[in-house]
Amino acid sequence: MSTNKMWGGRFESGPAAIMREITPSIDFDKRLAGEDLAGSRAHARMLAHEGIISKEDAAQILSGLDQVEAEIKAGTFVFKRELEDIHLNIEARLAELIGPAAGRLHTARSRNDQVVTDFRLWVRAACQRADEGLMALQRALLAQADKHIATIMPGFTHMQPAQPVTFGHHMLAYVEMFARDRGRFEDAKKRLNESPLGAAALAGTSFAIDREFTAKALHFARPMRNSMDAISARDFALEYLAACSIAAVHLSRLAGELVQWSTPAFGFVKLSDAFTTGSSIMPQKRNPDAAELIRGKSGRVLGDFVALATVVKGLVLTYGTDLQEDKERVFDAADTLEISLAAMAAMVADLTAQPEAMRRAAEPGFPTATDLADWIVRAREKPVREAPHTAGSIVKRAEEKGVTLDRLSLEEMQAVDPAITKAVFDVLTLDASVHSRMSLGGTAPGRVKEQVAFWKDRLK
Ligand code: ARG
Repeated sequence: MSTNKMWGGRFESGPAAIMREITPSIDFDKRLAGEDLAGSRAHARMLAHEGIISKEDAAQILSGLDQVEAEIKAGTFVFKRELEDIHLNIEARLAELIGPAAGRLHTARSRNDQVVTDFRLWVRAACQRADEGLMALQRALLAQADKHIATIMPGFTHMQPAQPVTFGHHMLAYVEMFARDRGRFEDAKKRLNESPLGAAALAGTSFAIDREFTAKALHFARPMRNSMDAISARDFALEYLAACSIAAVHLSRLAGELVQWSTPAFGFVKLSDAFTTGSSIMPQKRNPDAAELIRGKSGRVLGDFVALATVVKGLVLTYGTDLQEDKERVFDAADTLEISLAAMAAMVADLTAQPEAMRRAAEPGFPTATDLADWIVRAREKPVREAPHTAGSIVKRAEEKGVTLDRLSLEEMQAVDPAITKAVFDVLTLDASVHSRMSLGGTAPGRVKEQVAFWKDRLK
């Protein structure tokens, strides 16, 4: 068994067989190839610019890297597990292609700053993709909201029908949540956008490198100030995973509502054939698989955050190979979030709201009892703490008669409070209730329309 040709100098024997299983990361970190090439190009240019390597060597390195890139794109690049990771695979191939000049590329650099530079670049792009996925979902929700500005449905608290709201208002609640999710990715991206390249193994380097040069070439805002921090820090990945986790929780919540709303008992929405599956033994069924999978997959994303936080929390500064475990968690969360966002956006765009079922569900349970109490407060100048009691007694009568509040007779109401007049009937219907909730952010169609206009402008 031979020693690793990239680092095996003082090793007399090769690694145990099991080491060849546990050590390699190439199977997953090949996803960093593009970032690794970008990092190497920036580094090579900087080395030549500072006169640390010759212009000729740099030119050879750059053209060799182009060739490596072409091979990877064409699918002809041979990834080797014995070369452990993407960095050593590319460097070894570069040496095959251009000879000794390849060995100069790694001047003033270590795999420790190399890997974390690549990883920051990858996570930065992932933040951008998450933003785009979230925006597409917001647009789908907004289109539904726009169609259903005045569609009445029950609003719930404690899962009990509480007050009537509009479906548009409900959709826009998620548009707001996903807007904050976008803000979290934006913040994460801003904070992570500093260059660790040039921190070398951990302490910096004795070569006269220009870290501003490489930072700029890779579109980082600036070099990181502290080389040990640059090598050790993975909070950028944790922050990305935290943002993914919260977005996944929001997706799960919406998915859960879709599952519930699409059951025959609710019937608030009809999911299209494209996003449901049938059952072989129960032909009447239409299973909301896509929604269920999105809800289920949120667990993976949360797990990814916990897994990486657990890796990082016990680690002394600076690098430990433990950190090789960071990438799969981030890749998994990114893949899971991105596919969930795409599926949810398509499913939302494709669903059909069922206004009649929503209205039917909004009738029982005396959802305008608050409107009755509010009317009593206003008309009778009763203290707000007493009115619900009066309204409650009226609800009880309606319940006994088996009618909705707007169908209870004036005499019945006056038996509870003689001063009630027929003007009370103006507030007892679902439509009156919804239209009356004109306070800022309220469910009145006029207000929902304002929100729709706001988001149309923002999501143009
Ligand atoms: N494959 C490694 C990782 O993913 C690259 C850095 C290795 N550095 C080292 N000194 N072993 O973290």
